[in-house]
Amino acid sequence: MIRFILNNTPIATNQPPGMVLLDFIRYHRQLTGTKIGCREGDCGACTVLVGEWNDGKLLYKSMTSCLLPIGNAEGKHIVTVEGVNGTGLTPVQEAMAGEGATQCGFCTPGFVVSLTGFCLENQKPTMENAVAAIDGNICRCTGYKSIERAAGRLVTLLKDRKKTETGIEFCVRHKILPDYFLGIPERMSLLQESEKSKIKALSAAQTKKPRLLAGGTDLYVQQHDEMTNANIKFLLDEPGHDEIHIDGNECVLGPAVTVTDLAKSGVFSELFTFFPEYIKLVSSTPIRNMATIAGNFINASPIGDFTIFFLALDAKLKLKDGEHERLVPLRKLYKGYKILDKTPEEQITEIRFELHGTRTCFHFEKISKRRNLDIASVNSACNITSDKGIIGDAAISAGGVGPIPLYLEKNICLVNR
Ligand SMILES: Cc1cc2nc3c(=O)[nH]c(=O)nc-3n(C[C@H](O)[C@H](O)[C@H](O)COP(=O)(O)OP(=O)(O)OC[C@H]3O[C@@H](n4cnc5c(N)ncnc54)[C@H](O)[C@@H]3O)c2cc1C
Ligand code: FES
Ligand code: FES
Repeated sequence: MIRFILNNTPIATNQPPGMVLLDFIRYHRQLTGTKIGCREGDCGACTVLVGEWNDGKLLYKSMTSCLLPIGNAEGKHIVTVEGVNGTGLTPVQEAMAGEGATQCGFCTPGFVVSLTGFCLENQKPTMENAVAAIDGNICRCTGYKSIERAAGRLVTLLKDRKKTETGIEFCVRHKILPDYFLGIPERMSLLQESEKSKIKALSAAQTKKPRLLAGGTDLYVQQHDEMTNANIKFLLDEPGHDEIHIDGNECVLGPAVTVTDLAKSGVFSELFTFFPEYIKLVSSTPIRNMATIAGNFINASPIGDFTIFFLALDAKLKLKDGEHERLVPLRKLYKGYKILDKTPEEQITEIRFELHGTRTCFHFEKISKRRNLDIASVNSACNITSDKGIIGDAAISAGGVGPIPLYLEKNICLVNR
């Protein structure tokens, strides 16, 4: 049985863990405010907020419910547009209506949910951050300027947030969220306690050969129907799987580190000062909130952005199947188009790369038809170590130039050492 809180309602369901949340909320809870557009994570019409504990704080992230299996909602607070509604229009809805930011209205619940998530987050109230919060939402009839003006109204409102209040307290004070949200942290703590054993049970109940699933942003685009009733091993919420730390002269990532985890990691932003700029080139906020780095590697797309990024770092993967464990360089993983040196049972349990010190420069480049929110036509990364203007080592990767993501082997050593 899967348990979570949906808006103000506790849910305990025996529906298959692989069913996507979008189908559950529309067809089993009749919450039809969440719309079905593309079912591929592209349009944002199905956006919901997902609240979960992180370092003692209840944090909400926007996610596309069309790619989110209910197994990944276990123990969390799911918020649909119905869950933010109060007695009248909320300030977010008022801003959208007041600025003429809605016409047919199909996309509007998604925008309202994403902007409500922006008000809940502890981000700087800037126009740039407000627009970034809706980068996964598409509107095909209104035009974005009026939507941006609506977002601008919320930026002004957010300047009133007191340093001492939580996102929930601020939003309830301004009627952005209804009062029941004030009781959610306590309800979530109780739910988490009662669910700890059940999360384990969910994993243990699988058959011998379950499908491995992390964020689902690849699997549900490609195999929505098969995944609904599949035996799934859920990797995203395993304790410690989202950790990023330094171990000696290596940086170590857990197997369920998401793109957003990387972006928010102090360790990572210290190592790669341009990381916030690279991130803008990859998918959208809701997808980055779900997509894992390990999933990007195993998807084996020749243009996977993080595959190319980590190839230039000459990352190594720890692969585990039961008691059997081995370390494989990422550059040795790809044998042909989507053919991997890995059995289906082998799970990535760790990603490691060496730290080269201050004489090493790293750069990632992505060329796509649109600058933002598009897959790469080609992408490349390089990690170059130099001393007094002389390059000693260079590791270069290239995507979109062959059937597999390439590590350019012959360029590794440019001078004799
Ligand atoms: C709208 C949209 C935009 C996108 N934009 C981009 C983009 O700009 N750039 C880009 O590179 N990608 C993009 N993607 C692709 C996708 O988001 C990424 O490939 C993502 O990193 C996949 O991770 P996941 O956790 O969602 O994988 P999942 O779908 O959960 O899994 C993918 C594969 O990895 C396997 N797997 C996952 N974790 C493990 C593990 N620990 N061990 C072994 N196997 C594992 C699964 O079994 C599956 O075969 C986009 C996808 C969508 C839907
Ligand atoms: S329906 Fe389009 S993103 Fe989910
Ligand atoms: S208002 Fe029609 S799609 Fe946005």
